[in-house]
Amino acid sequence: MKSSSLKKCLTGVLPIILILISDNTIEADVHFKSHPTTAKVYESDSVLLPCYSTERHTRVRWFDDDNNVIADSQLPQLQEQYDRVLHSNGSLEVINVQLNDTGNYICEVTIGYKVFKQVNAIEVQVPPEVITYPAGFMNITLGGIFQITCEAKGVPYPIISWRHNNQKVTNTDDSNRRLTVEVKHYDMAGNIECVADNGVGEPASNGLVLLVQFAPEVIVKNPIVHTKVGLQGKIECIVFSHPTAQIHWFFEGKPVVKMNNLFSAYENDLTVTEALPSYYSKKRHVLTIRSVREADLGKYECKADNALGLSSGTVTLMANPLKPIFEDKNQPATPTTKVLSWQTQSLSPIIDYSFKFRLVKTGNENFQPKAKNYWTTLTIPADKDTTGPFHTKSYKLEGLGPSRVYEVSIQARNQYGQSEQSNILQFSTPAVSDIISSSSSTESNEYDSRFDDDQENEIYPAPFNAGSYSTTIATMSFTVFIIFCRIFL
Ligand SMILES: *[C@@H]1O[C@H](CO)[C@@H](O)[C@H](O)[C@H]1NC(C)=O
Ligand SMILES: *[C@@H]1O[C@H](CO)[C@@H](O)[C@H](O)[C@H]1NC(C)=O
Ligand SMILES: *[C@@H]1O[C@H](CO)[C@@H](O)[C@H](O)[C@H]1NC(C)=O
Repeated sequence: MKSSSLKKCLTGVLPIILILISDNTIEADVHFKSHPTTAKVYESDSVLLPCYSTERHTRVRWFDDDNNVIADSQLPQLQEQYDRVLHSNGSLEVINVQLNDTGNYICEVTIGYKVFKQVNAIEVQVPPEVITYPAGFMNITLGGIFQITCEAKGVPYPIISWRHNNQKVTNTDDSNRRLTVEVKHYDMAGNIECVADNGVGEPASNGLVLLVQFAPEVIVKNPIVHTKVGLQGKIECIVFSHPTAQIHWFFEGKPVVKMNNLFSAYENDLTVTEALPSYYSKKRHVLTIRSVREADLGKYECKADNALGLSSGTVTLMANPLKPIFEDKNQPATPTTKVLSWQTQSLSPIIDYSFKFRLVKTGNENFQPKAKNYWTTLTIPADKDTTGPFHTKSYKLEGLGPSRVYEVSIQARNQYGQSEQSNILQFSTPAVSDIISSSSSTESNEYDSRFDDDQENEIYPAPFNAGSYSTTIATMSFTVFIIFCRIFL
């Protein structure tokens, strides 16, 4: 009785001691040729756990973590309960490894009247699994904020990362378990995924679909549509929305009646280059005027509304010439002349150009213009044979003074009216040699008198407001940039 309880105690305690001191006994244990081994295996694999003693043994037994005997060379029927084979050389083969086979496997050999033990282990590698809270669909209004938590499993424990519309996300908490999403733009709508990878099998991923609710955004690519009477006119608005917006057209503040056979409206989805699913509506809305009458020229508005708000875009249908643009190929000025070229667009013939110029006071002139900073306006007839839509014109400005700075601006006119004023072009005249420059004061006087003469005929006596123009241009180019980003990026 005594010896059996001692034995029981020994077999119970010894493995624990061995586990605790196994690291130190690896080399010290002279009774084994094999070393303690941790086998990292996949599910349904087979694994051979070694247990090779240096001396001939009379008995081999294997124990599990709970000290149950799982194999015994003297009880061959025991191992048949499990998918385990005890080989004659002492090794234990575990066939068709299951997840619950992870643990320690203690081998005990009897040599003479002594027993020796060695600890082995199986660590079953588990492919990653992942779930998120919340999951499924997440319905958020633009500007909202929410948090997603990721729970991952697997052996070894997986590394967690996040993807938002297939792009890696970096602003997570330290453990990567939580992701905070601030919905700053509707294009954040889409898939948010937590990815878990532990090198066992394929990485696992799970997540949610973010739906962003937002008031419609209206983009007008061409705020001015240039036409002429008798042609077809197309007014276009691009609308981004979720839920999908309703569109209503207005002309000069009044609803456009679609039944009227003068108008037709249609919409189509914007084609996307990538085959990405769309989580909001992107539509091009076009109002077509079958044959433009003079009464149809004016301001059109597309109003888009959904449950979250209303937005609108404005398009002006006009037949006036477009704002003239100075051409780069302008030749250099001489001390007294300058050739200027410009271009405009008009579907109807150009009648004439209103050409304005003025001397800019730079402070270093050796003369005092009597009428300073007044615009002089010339009316320059258009060339007869230009059919359009592009019209170009050159004009030689004469009687200028040397070493001076001038400004010019153009407006084009057709039967429907004036274009917008062009941007101001500034140029300077070169200096002349000392001999010629002695006569320059005469030229200056001559020039001054021209200012006085022309002043009486001046159509635009008010100083030209350059500031508001440059602001408009800056705003327009910024708008074009934004549109470009929205549509192509
Ligand atoms: C022990 O026996 C098994 C099964 O026969 C064998 O696969 C293994 O190689 C043997 N080990 C040694 C060291 O001989
Ligand atoms: C281990 O899991 C398998 C199924 O994967 C089951 O059949 C077996 O009974 C389990 N063994 C133990 C000891 O829980
Ligand atoms: C999201 O919310 C909007 C309005 O609150 C609702 O109309 C829509 O059906 C919701 N969508 C989903 C997928 O829950």
